Amino acid sequence: MINYKQQFLKDTGAEVPIVCDPMYPGSNPELVAAVSDAGAFGVVQPVALTSLYGHDFRKGLQLIKKLTNKPFGVNFTIFGGANQKYHDQMKEWMEISIEEGVKFFLTSLGKPHEIVKIAKQHSIKVYHDVPNKKVALAMRDAGVDGLNCINWRGGGQTGIQSAEQFMEELHDIGIPLICAGGIGDVNDFQKALDLGYAGVQMGTRFLATNECKITDSYKMAIVDSDEGDIVWTNKIAGNNSSVIKTDDIMRGGLRTGPVINFMLRKPKLKKYARMYLMNKGVKNYSRTSFDDNVQFWQAGKGVGHINSVESVADVVNSFKSVEVT
Ligand SMILES: Cc1cc2nc3c(=O)[nH]c(=O)nc-3n(C[C@H](O)[C@H](O)[C@H](O)COP(=O)(O)O)c2cc1C
Repeated sequence: MINYKQQFLKDTGAEVPIVCDPMYPGSNPELVAAVSDAGAFGVVQPVALTSLYGHDFRKGLQLIKKLTNKPFGVNFTIFGGANQKYHDQMKEWMEISIEEGVKFFLTSLGKPHEIVKIAKQHSIKVYHDVPNKKVALAMRDAGVDGLNCINWRGGGQTGIQSAEQFMEELHDIGIPLICAGGIGDVNDFQKALDLGYAGVQMGTRFLATNECKITDSYKMAIVDSDEGDIVWTNKIAGNNSSVIKTDDIMRGGLRTGPVINFMLRKPKLKKYARMYLMNKGVKNYSRTSFDDNVQFWQAGKGVGHINSVESVADVVNSFKSVEVT
């Protein structure tokens, strides 16, 4: 029988089966490097690396390589609805990633077939974000090496299924399954491994670290929040995103208005509605990297188990007490 935990460790080159998600905002190169250096696995969010944190893409990857000699991954949000310029940019970033020796791609939103084809030519592993069984089976058949099961407890764009439901439906899919959403502490990690997951993907936990470039007020909001403070809004991307309930969030309401709702229901208009929302969202949410007074804070339900802002090394070390067999 295949040991998926060991396979996941082999695929990433990490010591502990923990991925730090790609996050906009949150994935500054210093965070990505610190996560990998501590023995887990950091993943670059290219738009955050370039537009938000101001690095030339190649130089950003080279900076991470200067900060750690451990492997790290790069995320590609495929987003079928985007324009040609976006796809060309993704392609260029992919080529640069290959040239810089990246061996792990994390793909999301869309069809990764082309990326899988190119990745295989360069012995690069591809894991893909999935929201349900139907997409999971299609992605397995497309040749991805593993699946990130995005559950309903996660921060940012979130899923609708529980971690348990994913495992019930996909336990025999034949590739590693990663639990993405709601992992705040070592007990949550242990539970995910006990369920049968090969590893976990954490975002919110790594936001509340010294190395992450978001504001101190954002970090403290994660520490001070409980599960009940997390609400869903569809105003960031048209589907549900998990955010902390703040005055800034509640002022505009949690749901889109009738015009956007109409567009979201029409397949031909949906992509325009989503692009409109994302452009607006990017403006609000990126400010949480620099402005303590802006309270657009994405976070998952793991906040209830996150009690302090720590160094990345302390966070990762605290998870190393779990024996991974
Ligand atoms: C602040 C924040 C930003 C995020 N940005 C992205 C992103 O740009 N692309 C992406 O694929 N997922 C993004 N996510 C979702 C994460 O990749 C992941 O699914 C989620 O963080 C896991 O749940 P957790 O936060 O409870 O650990 C984001 C999550 C957060 C909290």
